[in-house]
Amino acid sequence: MKNDFYNKSYISIDQITSKEQVMSLFAVANTMEKHVLSGKVYEPLKGMCVAVLFYQPSTRTFTSFSAAAKRLGAYVIGLNEMNSFSSAAKGESLEDTIKAIHQTTGANAIVIRHPDDNSSEVAAGASYVPVVNGGSGKKEHPTQALLDLYTIYRKFGRFNNLHIAMVGDLKFGRTIKSLSKLLTVVGEKITITFISPKELRAPKELIKELKEKGVTISQKSQFGHVLEEVDVVYMTRVQKEWFEKEGKMEEYERLKLKFILEQKHVDKMKKESIVMHPLPRVGEILLEVDNDPRAWYFKQMRSGLYVRMALLKSILLK
Ligand code: NCD
Repeated sequence: MKNDFYNKSYISIDQITSKEQVMSLFAVANTMEKHVLSGKVYEPLKGMCVAVLFYQPSTRTFTSFSAAAKRLGAYVIGLNEMNSFSSAAKGESLEDTIKAIHQTTGANAIVIRHPDDNSSEVAAGASYVPVVNGGSGKKEHPTQALLDLYTIYRKFGRFNNLHIAMVGDLKFGRTIKSLSKLLTVVGEKITITFISPKELRAPKELIKELKEKGVTISQKSQFGHVLEEVDVVYMTRVQKEWFEKEGKMEEYERLKLKFILEQKHVDKMKKESIVMHPLPRVGEILLEVDNDPRAWYFKQMRSGLYVRMALLKSILLK
């Protein structure tokens, strides 16, 4: 199968332009799953080095990228306190840091998470080797979108005719932006219901773009009867850090738990539907939901390992 990812940075979901691209990556992810579950050594990236540089907190993305590279045999330089312990704290530019990391480590690829919306473009522009966006500001989380879509594919085996409710902080949250755009590339007859307090609505430009690409969109500020209809409820956390930055903590306190998914809500959902969340959750899905077979947010994380293995392998090997 054609490998469109080879030797390229992956910084934006807009780089995914065809269903074939996604399906060929998912085929690799599927093979990665088999390798992981076999427990046998599989080291196609032996001798290579991947640097994982995080300027924002992370559990899943950091560990799954690091584990993905290590499981493929690559040597990993993982730095998750870039903001406080790298030369960024002395005022070094991102461009210089990226060049430095390549020189000092010989990294063949660099994964970066950073609070600036355009950080991955800047890093890729300065880098001698491919850069992968592990989350940039409020704008993009293109590998999360792939793992979310892989999860949807594992559950439904299709992308057409899906109705997804995206709930929570649709203004600051980056995951819903990347996932909703990706859905337009792979699926037909997609319906997205955005549910949020009015202060945290999805950006107008995003809604416009999705509509132009044929998605049926509605925006609500209550669950109403949507839960009965959807295939996926995609919950998100209200992004405290951005309220802090803007000095709006009172607003955060007021909005943080406007949408809480309880068992009584899940009980209304179709038997075949699922609940997703990029995690971390901070109260917006009650623990009582975890044992419901529709709770897929833990399985969703494992998709991250397989998809990130597939992506790193595709970028680093022909
Ligand atoms: C998300 C992120 O960083 O955008 N987390 C993740 O990567 N799984 C979601 C969030 O932090 O709310």
